[in-house]
Amino acid sequence: MNILLTGGAGYIGSHTAVALASAGYTPIILDNFCNSDKSVLKRLEKIIQKPVACVEGDVRNTSLVEKVLREHEINAVIHFAGLKAVGESVQKPIEYYANNVQGTISLLDAMRSANVKNLVFSSSATVYGDPQYLPIDEHHPLSATNAYGRSKLHIEEMLKDLAASDPAWKMMCLRYFNPVGAHQSGLIGEDPSGIPNNLMPFIQQVAVGKLPKLKIFGNDYDTIDGTGVRDYIHVMDLAEGHLAALSHLSKNPGWSTFNLGTGKGSSVLEMIAAFESSTGAKIAFEYVPRRAGDIASCYAAVDKAQAALSWSAKRTLEEMCASGHQWQNYRHSFV
Ligand code: NAD
Ligand code: UD1
Repeated sequence: MNILLTGGAGYIGSHTAVALASAGYTPIILDNFCNSDKSVLKRLEKIIQKPVACVEGDVRNTSLVEKVLREHEINAVIHFAGLKAVGESVQKPIEYYANNVQGTISLLDAMRSANVKNLVFSSSATVYGDPQYLPIDEHHPLSATNAYGRSKLHIEEMLKDLAASDPAWKMMCLRYFNPVGAHQSGLIGEDPSGIPNNLMPFIQQVAVGKLPKLKIFGNDYDTIDGTGVRDYIHVMDLAEGHLAALSHLSKNPGWSTFNLGTGKGSSVLEMIAAFESSTGAKIAFEYVPRRAGDIASCYAAVDKAQAALSWSAKRTLEEMCASGHQWQNYRHSFV
């Protein structure tokens, strides 16, 4: 089976390419490299031990996408391509809607023309807004507080309308919680440009001496130790969730949503402790005021994915931290 990965050169897409190849699928990447580096392809091929087909291009180029779908005889698409920085989305909403919403419309248009009607979409836990209850199940009310989150909500709704219009479409929205860590080879991983916004890449850069200390955004939340709690999931578990999604998709027409998380929340201090114990590194930190827009706790109900996809996350916090550290050490060696 040939699977097109839009944005497949990025963090989650590259790990999913590895999982797909190990399961016997053929991944084909379409990426414009606006947030990834072409060198990832060589590293991917080293892991997969096979050439990886990659087309450089924008998902908004409908005729190009249609050509790729036809020429590579694509059976299903996993749509990762998009912009994902929350703060930037507030400054540049046009770019976010153009890339994420318009990009998806272009992809759907090309898929319809090429008669490829199987789609897995990268959504986010951000569509749940400020949690009204925990753990968050798929029936939790949806809301958005920024252009990034709203772009994901718009896309989910668009896909739902499309599924209602034509029963040939099979579409799944996977709502990722907090993906972290890296492939066990240490050759691929998350590679944010500039100072990382997210916790794990920040900790990883403190560990290799690239940044002096972590600023913990608030220690007065109503949580186990006052710091924010999130559902961190190993990126390879998440990648394998896409395999389960593809197999579910083949038997289930229509539109559906699934949480991909572990079901377990961990605080910032618990993440630091897990990182220190699994790597031996020391993470200096200080407390600073809360980050605007942050929530106290967020973690997934995972029963639906377990029951319908027969999938659950397996890897531990220590494996997430150790693999992320190994990748950061490798990454640091060539900057
Ligand atoms: P990433 O930035 O590492 O990967 C996205 C890839 O898409 C990049 O390689 C980028 O060059 C490419 N891309 C962007 N716009 C494109 C376009 N118009 N045409 C072609 N390629 C384009 O991000 P990621 O962390 O791998 O996230 C993948 C998807 O998962 C995104 O849609 C993101 O919103 C979603 N998501 C990510 C997280 C997370 O924490 N990483 C959480 C929830 C959801
Ligand atoms: C981020 C995204 C969100 C996305 C989610 C899942 C932002 C603002 N939000 O949020 O849209 O759905 O990832 O991928 O990017 N923290 C620190 N110091 C830091 C960085 C983070 O203390 O330097 C804390 C945060 O306050 C939070 C926790 O660490 O309690 C995790 O933060 P982060 O990694 O940014 O993830 P989310 O807040 O879940």
